[in-house]
Parts: sequence; structure tokens; C-alpha cells
Amino acid sequence: MGRVLCTRPTTGSREGTLSVFACELAGIRVAYGQRAVLDGIDLQVGIGQSVAIMGRSGSGKSTLLNVLLGLRRPDSGQVLVGGVDMSQASERAWTTVRREQLGVVFQSSSLLPDLTPVENVMVPLLISGQPAEDVEGAARALLEEFGVPGDVGRTADLSGGEQQRVALARALTRKPRLVLADEPTASLDWTTRDSAAESLFAVPKRVRCGLVVVTHDPDVARRADRCLMLTNGQLSDAEVAPPVGHAQ
Ligand SMILES: Nc1ncnc2c1ncn2[C@@H]1O[C@H](COP(=O)(O)OP(=O)(O)O)[C@@H](O)[C@H]1O
Ligand SMILES: [Mg+2]
Repeated sequence: MGRVLCTRPTTGSREGTLSVFACELAGIRVAYGQRAVLDGIDLQVGIGQSVAIMGRSGSGKSTLLNVLLGLRRPDSGQVLVGGVDMSQASERAWTTVRREQLGVVFQSSSLLPDLTPVENVMVPLLISGQPAEDVEGAARALLEEFGVPGDVGRTADLSGGEQQRVALARALTRKPRLVLADEPTASLDWTTRDSAAESLFAVPKRVRCGLVVVTHDPDVARRADRCLMLTNGQLSDAEVAPPVGHAQ
């Protein structure tokens, strides 16, 4: 049975299962040996909201995403996805939540290089048991929205920015409640980085989900509704310096 998260009242709704939050973390602690990598993390991400998390290498950013994915069980604290407390959930329940409610985008794409973009986007839907003829149209429409041709041959032959947009389209196929991105633009040059970041940060409003982006790039982070810094296991609001301005 899930416990009730005792934080600020959210919507005033008494329905219990209804939540305006895509995800909530309360008092999350993760330690490796003596070192607490996450030491009392509280975070609420609303539907339609984007949050950027910055922090030095080794500060625990990926660990935090893994907690949200149910891949790292915290030593203490609560994780809620869509208002449902997953803290004590079984592996099976987490697998279902990952498949149905979470979308992920990583730094280097985990796309299948020899498939076409449209085939890559279809993969999660095919795995979920939907027939190919039903999902192909949806996959094509998503790619079109992101401006990537679906049938250009091998995905491996696309540019880095196009591949990241294919990965993003694939993350959205099942209409996730929460999208998690770990350094999604780190392998891109700055022009493709900007267009990939623009596509990424448009997602929460477009598909009504929450978005958590881990990045060390202030030019990416400042596009988020909220910027946070992870330091010594704790999150705090971050001031992101204004853009330096690209040389014209
Ligand atoms: N499975 C693990 N066992 C021991 N230490 C780990 C493990 N995973 C991560 N760490 C350590 O936790 C710290 C945070 O790692 P990570 O979350 O990957 O940081 P970041 O993504 O911010 O670079 C690092 O010092 C890392 O070495
Ligand atoms: Mg990391």
C-alpha cells in the first residue's frame, strides 16, 4: 500500500489518484558506502513543466534519473509517478510504469543503427504488441513533427542532431507522463544542439508531460521552466548566466 506523500497541498483535489505532478520525489537518499550521493532530495515536476538539473560530474545526476526510472531503489524517501507511490512497488510494476509512462533520451542514442528512423520509432510500440500496420502511421507523423525523414535508409547515416530527434520521437511514442533526458545534447555541435534543445523543451506543452533534463550546458538549461543545481547530494535553485551571444 502506498503511503500518502506529506508535502504542500497540490491541487486541493481529494481524489487521491489525480495529481498535477508528473513525478514527485520526497526525502530521497542514496548512499554508496559512506557517501550519500543523494541526501534528501525533494522535487516535484508538473505536467507541462520542464526542469533542468545541472551539477558537476559525479554529483549524482544520473543516479537521480535512475531513481525516477526505478532502476536505483533509494535507501529512503518516496518516488511518485503520476501521483502513484512507487517506493515499495515490485520490479514488475516498475517495468510497466517505465514502458507506459516514462520516456528516456540519452547522450549517445540507443537507436538501432541499421534500421530506418521510422522503424526505430516503431520499436517500443511493436514491443508492446501492437501490429506494425497500426503503428507505422503514428511513427511517421511523429518524425514529421520533428522534421526528420522517416525512410532515409540507415539511422546511423543521419546527423547527430537528427538522430537525437529520432530518439526523442521514439521516447514519445507511448505518450509518456514523464520524459527523462541525460545529457541529451552533449554529443552535438552548437547549432544542432540548439535545434535539438528547442525540440526537447517544446515537448512538455505539446504532449502534456513533465520533462527532466540533466545537462552541464547552461545554454540548454536556461530553456527549462526551472533550473536546479545538484551539489553535495542536495538540489537548490540555480542562477543560469545569460547567454554570452554567439559571434555573428
Ligand atoms: N553502482 C555504483 N556503485 C558505487 N558508486 C557509484 C555507483 N553508481 C554511481 N556511483 C558513484 O556515485 C557518484 C554519482 O554518480 P552519477 O550519478 O553517475 O553522477 P553524474 O551523473 O552527476 O556524473 C559518482 O561518484 C559515482 O562514482
Ligand atoms: Mg551522468
